Amino acid sequence: MSATPSVEIAARGAKSPAALEFLKKGPTKLLIGGKWVPAKSGKTFETINPANEEVLALVAEGDKADVDDAVKAARKAFEDNRWAGMSPHARTRYLLKIADLIEAHADELAELESLDNGKPLSQARTIDIPGSARLFQYFAGWASKIYGETNPSDPSMFNYTLREPIGVCGLITPWNFPLMMASQKIAPALACGNTVVLKPAEQTPLTALRLGELIQEAGLPDGVVNIVTGFGPGAGSSISEHPDIDKVSFTGSTEVGKMILQASAGNLKRVSLELGGKSPNVILPDADLEQAVPTAMNGVFFNSGQVCAAGTRIFVQREMYDKFVDQFAKASERMTVGNPLDPKTRLGPLVSREQFERVNNYLNVGQQEGAKIAMGGGATEGKGYFIKPTLFTGVTNRMRIAREEIFGPVAAAIPFKDESDAVFQANDTTYGLAAAVWTRDISRAHKIARALKAGTVWINCYGAGDSSMPFGGYKQSGFGRENGRHALDLFTQIKSVYVKL
Ligand code: NAI
Ligand code: MG
Repeated sequence: MSATPSVEIAARGAKSPAALEFLKKGPTKLLIGGKWVPAKSGKTFETINPANEEVLALVAEGDKADVDDAVKAARKAFEDNRWAGMSPHARTRYLLKIADLIEAHADELAELESLDNGKPLSQARTIDIPGSARLFQYFAGWASKIYGETNPSDPSMFNYTLREPIGVCGLITPWNFPLMMASQKIAPALACGNTVVLKPAEQTPLTALRLGELIQEAGLPDGVVNIVTGFGPGAGSSISEHPDIDKVSFTGSTEVGKMILQASAGNLKRVSLELGGKSPNVILPDADLEQAVPTAMNGVFFNSGQVCAAGTRIFVQREMYDKFVDQFAKASERMTVGNPLDPKTRLGPLVSREQFERVNNYLNVGQQEGAKIAMGGGATEGKGYFIKPTLFTGVTNRMRIAREEIFGPVAAAIPFKDESDAVFQANDTTYGLAAAVWTRDISRAHKIARALKAGTVWINCYGAGDSSMPFGGYKQSGFGRENGRHALDLFTQIKSVYVKL
């Protein structure tokens, strides 16, 4: 590709000279066996700043041949025990060092994330980057706490279990929280003693590459972390099909999740999938509306709605529907949409032209289905993939806008009759990632929390997360739980040892 990246324009307003330095370095490379190398094909692709549609950087386009090399490097690093054979305390120190380096470079990483993804810089700086450091800190502690068991046995026997790493892990990540999703997979995989090949999303590869540099600076042995940038078909599918990858951890669309599961059959890889959602936010009549309205608004518009757990279906009792819609629209109108580098900005652009078109299409679909746009609707003037926060009213749970993941700043307010109708409609979806309920009645809240079919339930809040809390889906939102101690199950396997005394 011959386009010259107009870094100066793309990074206009950038405050971190380090971020600019990184962008100026020229085409990025792949990290394989501790060395930065171009793609074997010599191909590159552009990564775009979605706020102004300028090219930010050229990125190496890895494919099967590069994935093969990365897997070889990861396999060697696994089999010679340079990582798994280390004292767990030493692994803890390495992971803490990575966390420290992320914190030390937080301004630069936040800027790269904001430029590449379009999310407000203020949010990248306060959520994505500290959240990534936190994940390394959290899993650093686990490295020395991965216990086996001493099992009850016949007096003539001594039986115990060992919890061992799985081997080479392929990690395929999405573009909505690029550094955080990479950290959420790399940190537990490494804590458990695995080696990894990471394939970041093609829309937002930059912070993962910078993380690769920081991981080298932390002194991890070569080949423990390998990074291959490239597209889904190509780099991504070569990982899911690879006969020498033992496990794939994927976050992204349900559609691709199903393809990965099929591809894994070749060598029966372990698979964990964190997929899409259409999460319900149920607001009961006794809810504290002063809290529920702004929280519901953030719950669906945060990150321009590009959140797997976004609260896109807002259920409101029929009698209070108009009041809720009115308050929601008023509060949302105050949300500033614009330049992600401006501290006042609450909503940046969508990540790509593809997402922009996809979301615009849903705005038409909703209207064709008979829903009304009560606020927002459509793009803003000028360059960049901006879409105004939008609320659909007159929505039924059967409409496509209530059933399909839109992944943009689009909320649907759906009326319900009573509590059982609310729970029925909330669960009437193929997804089950998250759900919320608002009520001042505590026993009602907990009963509904049990009734909701979702991997996460929020009571009187929305979107709260903690690295110590398991996260994952019911139904077609995937399987496996990331974060918390359950993440260790995804990256270890159990060996039973029998000893004759
Ligand atoms: P995607 O599922 O295609 O992309 C996610 C990752 O999978 C990327 O790294 C991509 O390169 C990789 N990938 C794509 N095809 C692959 C294949 N055949 N084999 C292996 N890896 C592959 O998601 P996309 O196309 O960017 O977005 C489409 C929709 O997916 C969004 O509108 C949204 O609804 C959903 N999505 C959900 C996410 C979540 O957090 N659960 C994140 C991103 C997208
Ligand atoms: Mg795709």
